Amino acid sequence: MRKPFVAGNWKMNLDLASARSLVEGIAKGLGATSKIDVAICPPSIYLFPMAKAVAGTPIALGAQNCWSEPSGAFTGEVSAAMVKETGCRYVILGHSERRNTIGPKDANGRVAGESNAMIAAKVRAVFDNGLIPIVCIGETLAQRDANETESVLTSQIAGSLESVKPDEAKKLVIAYEPVWAIGTGRTASTAQAQAAHAHIRGQLVERFGAGAANAIRIQYGGSVKPDNARELMSCADVDGALVGGASLKPDDFVKIIQETISANDL
Ligand code: 13P
Repeated sequence: MRKPFVAGNWKMNLDLASARSLVEGIAKGLGATSKIDVAICPPSIYLFPMAKAVAGTPIALGAQNCWSEPSGAFTGEVSAAMVKETGCRYVILGHSERRNTIGPKDANGRVAGESNAMIAAKVRAVFDNGLIPIVCIGETLAQRDANETESVLTSQIAGSLESVKPDEAKKLVIAYEPVWAIGTGRTASTAQAQAAHAHIRGQLVERFGAGAANAIRIQYGGSVKPDNARELMSCADVDGALVGGASLKPDDFVKIIQETISANDL
C-alpha cells in the first residue's frame, strides 16, 4: 500500500516567530510519531531555522521551488544542492502559481510562467541531489469547462516528467491541484478528484509501468480543509494532500492529517 503523504505549502506567508510557533503547534498535535508522511514547505529563507524546529519531530521539510542549474549567474535563485544542505527531503515543483501567476504579464494580463520543460529540468536537478520532487499539475477552470482536463494532465505529465529515469519513478510525488480549487474554498468533488487521479495513474502506468506507477503517491490539493479531508482522502487513488491555507493553522493541519490516517484505516 502507498503510505499517504500530507504536506503543507506555506507559500509566501508568516514571519519567523509565527513559523516557529506553527511548527511547535503541529508537532504538539502530532506527537512523537506519525502513521503517514508529513512535511512542511516554508519559504526558502526559513528552511534552515525550520530544519532546527522540526528536528526530533515526525515532520519532514520541503522547499517550494529551486532552480535547475547547479550554480552560476542566477540572481535570486537557489540550487537543489543548496536546498539539500538545509536538511530538506522534498521540493515542490511546477506549482500552478509558478506556472500561471508569478512573472511579468503580457498585454492581456497573462503570465507565461514556468513551462513543462523548465519543470522537467528542475525535476532532474532535484533527483540528482537526492531530493524528492512533488510535481504539481492541474487544469484551469476554462480548461475544465472546455473538457480539456485529461489532455492538460496528459501533456503536463509527459512534459514535466520527461527527465525522470525509470528507477527513480517510484519515489516521485505528484500533486493534482485543479487551479480553480486553489485558495477559492471550492474543492473538487470526490468523483472529480478520483477521476483525475485515476487518469494520472493511467498515464504513469503507460510511462513507467504498473509497478512504479502504483507506488507513486498522488496528492490532492485545492482548498483541503478539516471538514472535507476525510472524503477526499478516502478516494482510491488519492494518497494524501498538498495543503495551502489550512496548513497555516496548526489545529486544522493536524486534523487533516488525522482524517487522512482514519480515511486510510491506519
Ligand atoms: P489552498 O489549500 O489554500 O487552496 O492551496 C492549495 C495549494 O496551492 C497547495 O499547494
